[in-house]
Amino acid sequence: MSATPLRLAVINSSVREGRFGPTVARWFVEQAEQRTDLEVDLIDLTEHALPYELSHAPSDTVSAELARVSPRLAAAEAFVVVTPEYNHSYPASLKNLIDWHRSEWQAKPIGFVSYGGLAGGLRSVEHLRPVFAELHAVTVRDCVSFHNVWGQFDEAGALVEPTAASAASKTLLDQLVWWGVSLREAREKRPYGA
Ligand SMILES: Cc1cc2nc3c(=O)[nH]c(=O)nc-3n(C[C@H](O)[C@H](O)[C@H](O)COP(=O)(O)O)c2cc1C
Repeated sequence: MSATPLRLAVINSSVREGRFGPTVARWFVEQAEQRTDLEVDLIDLTEHALPYELSHAPSDTVSAELARVSPRLAAAEAFVVVTPEYNHSYPASLKNLIDWHRSEWQAKPIGFVSYGGLAGGLRSVEHLRPVFAELHAVTVRDCVSFHNVWGQFDEAGALVEPTAASAASKTLLDQLVWWGVSLREAREKRPYGA
């Protein structure tokens, strides 16, 4: 579709001690890295502690922290958010990262890999769609979700039954690449003027 790989940022959004998120994020990154049409950057929110008080004039410490993460978001041409479900929604750490940024999300596609208990994090995904719409991002239809995630991976972090999740991951990434390349071309022709 395009000779230049699409720059994909995968955001591992849970920061809880003992979190399961890295297992899910690593599995997904492995899927994405098998493709030649993607260049993957894994962003782990435990490494980017932004304060909850938003500010237009951040302190030097906060500016330094933003300087570590914002350029990575700005450089991305597509995102996949890896999100758990906490009390029927997504984690505060993720909302905080979203709210500290604006143009970094605009006119770019966003996909979701979710996990949790019975609902597999799907309620988090549906809550995130209107948030990203407000930021002029496009969320792709299909996602990967892991229901009762604890039983789905073995101790080495491999999926016990990989077939369905790998197929779902391919569908998600195909959609993301279509939107990502299309929006890259559109932004090159006409800068997004929102
Ligand atoms: C505070 C809290 C609330 C949770 N609420 C839900 C929930 O509403 N629905 C669900 O399916 N799982 C829920 N869970 C289970 C989590 O989705 C599951 O533990 C998941 O592994 C959390 O991601 P993490 O380990 O990366 O932090 C909750 C877990 C925590 C810690």
